[in-house]
Amino acid sequence: MEWEKTFTLPPDGTRGNLMRVTIAIGLVFALIHVFLPSNAYLKNLFSSNKVFIDSLPRSHSLSSTRFSDGLRKCRNRYIFPQKIDPEHRQENPRYHIYTNDTSTLGTNFSFVIKNATVLDGDGILRDGPADVYIDKGMIYGVVDSGSKISQFLMESVKPHDIIDAKGKYVTPGLVEMHSHVGICTQPELRGVNDMFELMNPTTQFIKTLDAFNIGDPAIKLISYGGVTSSLVLPSANLISGEGFVFKMLVPPSRSVEEMLLQYDSNDVSPNLSVNRQRWMKMACGENPKKRFVANPSAPKSRMGLGFLFRSTMEKAQHLKEEQDLWCDAIEQGLTPKTPSFPENSEYDLLVELLRGKVRTNSHCYETFDIETLFRHAREFGFNITAVHHALDAYKIPEIIKRQPGNVSIVTFATEWGFKKEAFQGSVFSPKILNDNNITIALHTDHPANGGQDLIIQAQIAHSFGLPADKAFSAISGTAAKILGLDDRIGYLRKGYDADLVLWDRHPLQAGSSPLKVYIDGVSVLNVPIPDENKDDDLISLPGSLEDITTDKKALRCLEGSQEFVVKGIKQSFLKSLPSGASNITKEMVVKGGEVLCFQQDCSEFYSAIHSNCMKIITLKDGYVVPAGTALTTTHGITEMPSELSTGDGDVMDFVNNNILDDFSDPEKVVAAKNGLHLESKHLKWAHNSGVLKIITPPLRNEGKKFLTGISTAFRSDATDLNGIIKENVAIHFTIGDLGKQILLPTVSLQIQTLRKLLLENKGKANAYGDAFRGELPIALHTNSKDVILQLIKLKNELKTPYFIIVGGVEAHLVGKQLAENGIPVVLEPWRCQRKYWDERRCLTGLHGTPTAITALKKAGVKFAIAVDEDKLVRLLYQEATIAKARSDITSYEALKAISYDVEDIFKINDFINSLDFLVTEGHPLTYGSQIVAIVENGTLTDVYPDLEPEFEVSPTY
Ligand SMILES: *[C@@H]1O[C@H](CO)[C@@H](O)[C@H](O)[C@H]1NC(C)=O
Ligand SMILES: *[C@@H]1O[C@H](CO)[C@@H](O)[C@H](O)[C@H]1NC(C)=O
Ligand SMILES: *[C@@H]1O[C@H](CO)[C@@H](O)[C@H](O)[C@H]1NC(C)=O
Ligand SMILES: *[C@@H]1O[C@H](CO)[C@@H](O)[C@H](O)[C@H]1NC(C)=O
Repeated sequence: MEWEKTFTLPPDGTRGNLMRVTIAIGLVFALIHVFLPSNAYLKNLFSSNKVFIDSLPRSHSLSSTRFSDGLRKCRNRYIFPQKIDPEHRQENPRYHIYTNDTSTLGTNFSFVIKNATVLDGDGILRDGPADVYIDKGMIYGVVDSGSKISQFLMESVKPHDIIDAKGKYVTPGLVEMHSHVGICTQPELRGVNDMFELMNPTTQFIKTLDAFNIGDPAIKLISYGGVTSSLVLPSANLISGEGFVFKMLVPPSRSVEEMLLQYDSNDVSPNLSVNRQRWMKMACGENPKKRFVANPSAPKSRMGLGFLFRSTMEKAQHLKEEQDLWCDAIEQGLTPKTPSFPENSEYDLLVELLRGKVRTNSHCYETFDIETLFRHAREFGFNITAVHHALDAYKIPEIIKRQPGNVSIVTFATEWGFKKEAFQGSVFSPKILNDNNITIALHTDHPANGGQDLIIQAQIAHSFGLPADKAFSAISGTAAKILGLDDRIGYLRKGYDADLVLWDRHPLQAGSSPLKVYIDGVSVLNVPIPDENKDDDLISLPGSLEDITTDKKALRCLEGSQEFVVKGIKQSFLKSLPSGASNITKEMVVKGGEVLCFQQDCSEFYSAIHSNCMKIITLKDGYVVPAGTALTTTHGITEMPSELSTGDGDVMDFVNNNILDDFSDPEKVVAAKNGLHLESKHLKWAHNSGVLKIITPPLRNEGKKFLTGISTAFRSDATDLNGIIKENVAIHFTIGDLGKQILLPTVSLQIQTLRKLLLENKGKANAYGDAFRGELPIALHTNSKDVILQLIKLKNELKTPYFIIVGGVEAHLVGKQLAENGIPVVLEPWRCQRKYWDERRCLTGLHGTPTAITALKKAGVKFAIAVDEDKLVRLLYQEATIAKARSDITSYEALKAISYDVEDIFKINDFINSLDFLVTEGHPLTYGSQIVAIVENGTLTDVYPDLEPEFEVSPTY
């Protein structure tokens, strides 16, 4: 997932040669300046190499400075990144950053967290309660509560604060392996978006350190999510540049360098020390191929990229050889070819890579791209550390394991679908890779996914079968290992940086939130620890999806039955049935589109049932659940939004011939019902995850668009147009920054135009007229509070139209007015992202604040939940699970927010007069619960559906 979706790129051609030269000069200067050793040191070196000095030719042109500098660089060739045994560390090297300013700290550096349940970075739970001692920014000891050694530490550390964890989970701070925080400030503003360097596709010489904006508000938000360190990488280019690991805490000095994990306040110029870890970013496939279309000399195919990669590496190889020749000459007492040690900051990182000192992080998706990456590495003799994103890696474990070094896969839990190279993704990929003994870590690619939600990556991966220890380790200890920083972070052990998180529940439980977060022993989040746990279940590890066994598969013979029996139902969430929440399980008998019986014992009805194979579904922990209804942006309209051939097209793909700017013509309003593309992979996967009904407007790819068109509602398993539930559902407008376009450059003009279109057509038989009269709902996509206020005013003026706010990220600020005016909100998304200015005031739901859901409910606003990214449509129940866990709503309210309420708000409920529901094993709002049956129109259509049913792009007919 990269940024083509969300960012409009600046025109190509802003060349950075000047910058390159500046960096080059600056860097060489810095190196010379900083590492010039003392005279005494040089003398030592010289005398220890007497032959060398003696044999220096008299006419030697090297000045002593050049000579000593070169000699040192020759030696540096063999200095590798070093780890320190944490056991012997006396203090965190970053400690002094904070000591001069106690005002911001909220702690006096030494403290103990008593009675903690410790989950360490290897994902292993420590036996019994533990006390964690912190001093000088470092973990001093993790010992059994009440033990002698704990008493001893209490006396020797004399902690200034004693915090009672009350048995809650304490873990190491989370480690993010792929972030763009600081170089892509949120909300997105062009002035501080430095993600992309477009001078050319090979920019190994750029450094995220040079762009990191200490004022990015996301830093704090990310730390509230328990993430204490992030590898900040540059984006998209074939050889993208150098990344740095930052602590997610702005130091009192506001120095960016002091945010570097490897900053050492005892070192004069720590950032350039020779034995630090270095990280490099590369990219394969679509991003480097597509991003430079405007640059005539840049490659446009993977073959061109391959050539460019090789030719760039050859230059680095050549420089490395020149360096080695120079050093050989010096060692042999000969005059080297050049007066100075050969250097070129343009290739410095690559030379270091060839010397085995740089860890690579490569964005690649497709199997063949990953293999090409490996081939390139072998050709030049360096190792691949980590393949990032890597959605297809699960298909080639053997190729991965065959490579030299231990190649790790750093991937997503939920990503797939939006472009060709992401089309083959699977939620089971972390599990499959782990089953193959491949090291895996998980990342968010912030801001592609909010960095504060890194924990959710581990939760979802675990819920789809990645063992809990590996899932937690994938965002802590394992990530630290892949970074080469596992002597400092990722673990809760003596000598490690005091980066730790105290959670309100088991961190892999839905909705888990940090109550306390420390970075280098400094408190960054401090929410009071409640005495009582809300719910005992939250303390334990949540479940994982179970395999579909042969026994379960045998029940599939029931598929197609219109008469069937379900036993073992604990609770129903259907509005048409009594909830049944009691200790007595119920049975259900369905026949002829009706529930004949729903009670403790339905045996008297059994004889009336003639199902396909006379089997009965018997559940251990059964639930009857409303089927999901999703408002989507592309389902049924386009398979891959970046490939317009895969569907209806984009309403604004008329760049030169902007016919849709002619809003005054109602005949030109596009209706999605005319562009449906059924039986797509997205639809099949949504269906088998319980999302049976879909509402989609015409495609509106990211960008600026005022009028999208008319949405349609249909069944996700529709094979023909009979599957349409309601042809014209709502007319969709985007008001706000995202609605700005050529003829409507201002929000004011958008609102005036909306008003005019409605008023001018009020008596007419067309879409605008229907909308004016309230016969066609008007879905207004907007997030800004100020825009919502204008829309409320417009509604008051026009009276008859029916407005729905879609997006509504800032709706909580005007909840009362929305409720008073009967305007419902479809939260899309309900989770706070803050990508744009119009959503900068979203409620995070972290650090003890409510979520948008809680706030809207309290204000009495009618709301529903939708997801803004199509990859999440199939995970609608997981979203509802997290929403429920973080918000003050009941399970029923969460479930109806993704079903009945959506249908109600979009007024399609009257068109669904049938029996649609799911039967689940396990509470539907817990991880690991499983869909046992899908019932549509009273027919049992699927039993134990495959969540990722086979989809062939080119079926063999
Ligand atoms: C802390 O303050 C002392 C005294 O003012 C100063 O010498 C030292 O350099 C400061 N340290 C840092 C890391 O700012
Ligand atoms: C630890 O916390 C738990 C939960 O609050 C409590 O039951 C137990 O007594 C505490 N133990 C100690 C040693 O404080
Ligand atoms: C690559 O990994 C192998 C171990 O499999 C190691 O022997 C070799 O030195 C590594 N090469 C480099 C350039 O780091
Ligand atoms: C993974 O490692 C385990 C333990 O070393 C071994 O038993 C298992 O066969 C390995 N699995 C694969 C697929 O290599």
